[in-house]
Amino acid sequence: MPVSNLRCATAALLALLMCIVSAPVQAQDSVPSSTDDTTKGAPYVSTPQHVVLRMLELAEVTPDDVVYDLGSGDGRFVISAARDFGARGVGIEIEKDLVAQSRRNAARMEVEEQVRFYRGDLFKTDLSKATVVTLYLWPGMMDRLRPKPRSELVPGARIISHDFTIDGWTPDTTVTIGTKTLQEEKTQIHLWTIPE
Ligand SMILES: C[S@@+](CC[C@H](N)C(=O)[O-])C[C@H]1O[C@@H](n2cnc3c(N)ncnc32)[C@H](O)[C@@H]1O
Repeated sequence: MPVSNLRCATAALLALLMCIVSAPVQAQDSVPSSTDDTTKGAPYVSTPQHVVLRMLELAEVTPDDVVYDLGSGDGRFVISAARDFGARGVGIEIEKDLVAQSRRNAARMEVEEQVRFYRGDLFKTDLSKATVVTLYLWPGMMDRLRPKPRSELVPGARIISHDFTIDGWTPDTTVTIGTKTLQEEKTQIHLWTIPE
């Protein structure tokens, strides 16, 4: 093979190798940062506030309730449960910046006495004090979570999930509501009650 052809072939091979090597790096860059890649299973995407309110209404939250949001983001479920329904609440979130933001938001809304935000792994959180659990977690996390509510929650506790269901659990109620985006998208919320 002439030397020029050999150079071309080598250059093409190098270009191909660069593509293969750089592809996973680009994919990783698009994933939001995580404190611990082994425990984090869902990126931060917030639930629209009108969906938060509808979910807490559907779960019939009262001042007697203790609402846990697993993967609590900026704290909106817990803060709304306290401010709009008079409940107490606990948020568990793995990202420390979001925990700090939740505490600031709670102070701004003057509900800091009623709520607590902890940085931690939701899979290691004891749920025995919760009477309502709110969820907006991706399907892989819902699968992993499945045994926990039934073994830890008290009878009568409600679980309310934005968008995703728990495989093998038939919801007591599913409601479809608009997300209020320009595309008129719809989302679903699902409610389960722990049997007596
Ligand atoms: C889809 S967001 C939902 C945020 C909030 N619940 C809402 O609906 O607005 C999921 C949240 O779970 C958090 N998260 C992911 N894995 C977690 C884990 N193992 N323990 C605690 N939080 C986690 C993410 O950082 C993210 O804030």
